[in-house]
Parts: sequence; structure tokens; C-alpha cells
Amino acid sequence: MKRIAVFTSGGDSPGMNAAIRAVVRSAAYYNMDCFGILRGYEGMINDEFRIMNPSDVSNIIQRGGTILKSARSKAFMTKEGRQKAYDNIKLHGVEAIVAIGGDGTFTGAKIFESEFGIPIVGIPGTIDNDLFGTDYTLGYDTAVNTVIEAVDKIRDTADSHDRLFFVEVMGRDAGFIALRSGIGVGAEAILIPETTTYIDKLIDILQRGWERKKSSSIIIVAEGDDMGGATEVAAKVKEKFTHYDIRVSILGHMQRGGSPSALDRMLASRMGLGAVEALRDNKSGIMIGVVNGKVTHTSFDKAIKHNVDVNPELLRLAEILSQ
Ligand code: F6P
Repeated sequence: MKRIAVFTSGGDSPGMNAAIRAVVRSAAYYNMDCFGILRGYEGMINDEFRIMNPSDVSNIIQRGGTILKSARSKAFMTKEGRQKAYDNIKLHGVEAIVAIGGDGTFTGAKIFESEFGIPIVGIPGTIDNDLFGTDYTLGYDTAVNTVIEAVDKIRDTADSHDRLFFVEVMGRDAGFIALRSGIGVGAEAILIPETTTYIDKLIDILQRGWERKKSSSIIIVAEGDDMGGATEVAAKVKEKFTHYDIRVSILGHMQRGGSPSALDRMLASRMGLGAVEALRDNKSGIMIGVVNGKVTHTSFDKAIKHNVDVNPELLRLAEILSQ
């Protein structure tokens, strides 16, 4: 194998740059050319290919975002779009691809690989941690730390004013950010899409805190919670719990930015080398992961959506400690 390409796609995540660096430098180590494709599948279709040398990825390991830019491509969902993308892959003599992204990226990669036979290996880059086959996806650890830092600050003002705060965190379909950060900030309750939210149970928890004269309460709400986001849940609680001063804080896209944590840099570096070596071993249709400290391979089929469950032990832990 003499020439590969790398791209980032879907929602960006801290650690993507570190992964690009690792792929480009690993390719150079094995004497392969490496193209960077801008804007994910969009750039593949629009022929935005750039050759990347080891020096092009200097000084990016610590940077959030992605130097290759990212996009969610509608055109790639059509056969015509994928044909254009493949024509450009052929035009540049690219023999295999490293795709950095989440479930949407791997769903596209799976179809592309089966239609055109081009080998593709994935690196899990998403703050959501919703892929099966890796303990952590790139950016998850950083995002959780970002949430913890923000909520610690919210706790200060909540405490000063004896307020109840509903803090909304990202996770349209997954509650992993909410659960881990909720435990980390000592939240009174954590509401996630994977479990049913019962308003009466929530009121009970708040009532107990009220009786114990708790000076602040923080409820972490994943944006995909079944009752809606933080604003909707806060409104329902307000109806039944009129004596509490309630505020809502939506953290939003700040969770996707920032310098990657040590864990994310380490993961990105190992996964980048792992991806290049997997391609050299003629592997395809797989995602690189790190499970129990070891680099692993999981088929795209297994890795993508709905194969990963929340850890019931963590749900129990959150409930016991929030009393
Ligand atoms: O997939 C990552 C993610 O950050 C989700 O948690 C969130 O729901 C979504 O992306 C937001 O996407 P956009 O940037 O398109 O608003």
C-alpha cells in the first residue's frame, strides 16, 4: 500500500487533530503518501484533497477542532454523490482511507466500502461516547471535563442564591456525557435518554433536599432526555415545586471545543497508528478502539448506534451518592 487518505466527519471532537497527526506520521513511517481530505465526505465529492507531510501536522496535537474541517454531507447519502467521491479517490490514486468520526461517518463508510471495495478503517471521534468497541471515543473525556468545570462554576452561584439549576449537556441519543459529568459534579439527579424520566420521582428527590435545607441543587439533563431538554423539565418541575428558585443553563457547543485532555491525546495517538497498521494488514470495515488498555478492532456494523448500553453500576452509584 503506497497511498492513503484521512478525513474527519460529523460533529468535531477534541483529539481529532491529534489523530490526524498520528495517521500522517504513521503513514510516513511506513513510506506511504497521505492525503488529507477537507470537510469529510463533502470534500471527497468536491475534490478537496491535500497531500500532507509530517511537518504539516506539527503543533496541532494540543488543538481542539479539526484542521481538516468537518461536515455532515447530504450529497454522500446519494449513489451519485458516492460515485463522484469514488472517482476522486481513484483520480488521486488513493488505495485506502482512514475515517475519523462517529456513527454517521461509519454508516457512510460501510456503504461506500461495500459499493466500491475501497478499504476503510475508522477512528471513533465523537464527544458522545456512543460507539461499541472502545472504552472511550476521542473527545469524550475532554467534553466531560469541560462540563465539570462549567458546572462547578454554576454550583457556586446556585449555592449563593439557594437555587435549583437544570443544566443541559450534549447527547441527542446518548446519556454518557450526562452520566459521567453528573457523577463528577455530585448532581442531585441525572436525566438521560436511555432511562425513563419520572417527574414525581424527581420532585421527591428535590423535596428531600429542600427538607434537609440543601442550599443548591443541580440536575444534569442530556439534551435527548425523553421529557425534552432542560427547559422542558424545568417548566414541569416549576408547576409542582413553586417554592424553589429555578434557573436553566444550556452548555451547548462549548462542550465540543477546547484542548484535548491527556487521555484523548493518548487515545488519538494509539488509534492513529493502529488505523494505519490495520490498513497495512489488509483490514477494512472496522473501527479501531482501545478496550482495557489494548488496541482492538470492531466491525462498523457492531460499532454503530444502539449497541452500547449505559453501565447500570454507574446509574446506581449516581443514585446512592446523590441522597
Ligand atoms: O454527535 C455529537 C453532538 O455533539 C451531539 O451530542 C449533539 O446532539 C450534536 O452533535 C449537535 O450537532 P450540531 O453541531 O449539528 O448542532
